[in-house]
Amino acid sequence: MSVLFSEGFLGGLRLENRLVVSPMCQYSAVDGIAQPWHLVHLGQMMISGAGLVIVEATAVEPQGLGTRGDMGLYDDAQESALSELVGNLRTLSSAKIGIQLTHTGRKAATRTIPERWRGEPLPPEEGPWKPLAPSALAFDEGWQTPQELDETGIRRIIDAFARSAERAVRAGFDLVEIHGAHGYLIHEFLSPITNRRTDDWGGTIEKRNRFACEVAKAVRKVWPRERALGFRLNSTDWHPDGSTLEDALALAAELKSIGVDYVVMSSGNIAPGIRIPPATPGHQVAFAASVRKQIGMTAMAVGMILDPHQAEAIIASGDADFVALARPFLDNPRWGLHAAAALGDDIAYPPQYIRARPNNWLGFSHVHPHSRAPATRLQLDRPRSVSSWDRPNSA
Ligand SMILES: Cc1cc2nc3c(=O)[nH]c(=O)nc-3n(C[C@H](O)[C@H](O)[C@H](O)COP(=O)(O)O)c2cc1C
Repeated sequence: MSVLFSEGFLGGLRLENRLVVSPMCQYSAVDGIAQPWHLVHLGQMMISGAGLVIVEATAVEPQGLGTRGDMGLYDDAQESALSELVGNLRTLSSAKIGIQLTHTGRKAATRTIPERWRGEPLPPEEGPWKPLAPSALAFDEGWQTPQELDETGIRRIIDAFARSAERAVRAGFDLVEIHGAHGYLIHEFLSPITNRRTDDWGGTIEKRNRFACEVAKAVRKVWPRERALGFRLNSTDWHPDGSTLEDALALAAELKSIGVDYVVMSSGNIAPGIRIPPATPGHQVAFAASVRKQIGMTAMAVGMILDPHQAEAIIASGDADFVALARPFLDNPRWGLHAAAALGDDIAYPPQYIRARPNNWLGFSHVHPHSRAPATRLQLDRPRSVSSWDRPNSA
């Protein structure tokens, strides 16, 4: 049996395997409310073979929305749609379901990615809302200068994370991940590039970490112990004036003491124009390995994990406890099922698709010649004439 498909724990939450669908914005919400697309997209992910599916970055207050298509979890209509979504997803598989909570800070009020590949600020005629940030520094030329948060604003947003987490409890999620990376509000507090404050929320690393820690404490307080709490961490800003891996490790240690169950080690996007080394396969795995080895904390690796054997080696070598994949699941929503076959493992298939399972379908080894799936054999033990799988639409 592969280690990738062995059970794993995020705090008290048991996952059937170590494969995670990373959160992916769909830019398809309306007024922050999940739509049928989310059921289709996440439904596919529920039957992908992954043990955990994490719903996209979801704003904790209206000013924290990145685009008009972002998901929100700050009002009753949004909560009710997500409750229904979680209920529907539960009928599809036993994969666990998480949600990522965020505030987009100075990157708020942009066009959606499908409208503009790299996102760009909404022009004044499209009614952009005012972005908020630790310091009044625009993301780039042509972007709005954000309003510098005062103490009241900071406290309001910390509270908003906790209120959204309470809504996530009621909606039935198994896991909450706090988004502390990719240049959004929490990361903006962490990085000296975006945080120029001289009060208790900026300056030294302890003060820059304070906002992230206060958010984590507020969420942990309302989030049940048996459900998992994670944090997406910026491993490095890839810039000499920015946050470093040492900073990330110091924060991971603090988060661990607060009761955060895992960190997922991502990087980049604090400011435009920073030269980042080309993303090669597994380019961020070493960051997860550092957390695991130096802090002794459960770590998830993410970024350019492409191949089942690569994923297996990351877990087997002890570099990470879990692997999170994003684009590979968009490319192939059965990535996990195929990965299990490639590793010679046998995991549960959606019964509706059982006819395409490696050991039921002579064609599988032709379509996937590198698979190590058990030798194909037709299951003739089920009398063909009465099998519903043989005649699903016999009318
Ligand atoms: C369409 C899309 C949407 C994304 N949205 C989010 C998001 O909501 N939150 C987040 O933390 N990362 C987001 N990401 C980043 C991914 O979760 C992941 O970290 C990144 O794509 C690297 O993994 P990959 O090489 O497996 O795609 C998104 C990526 C894609 C492709």
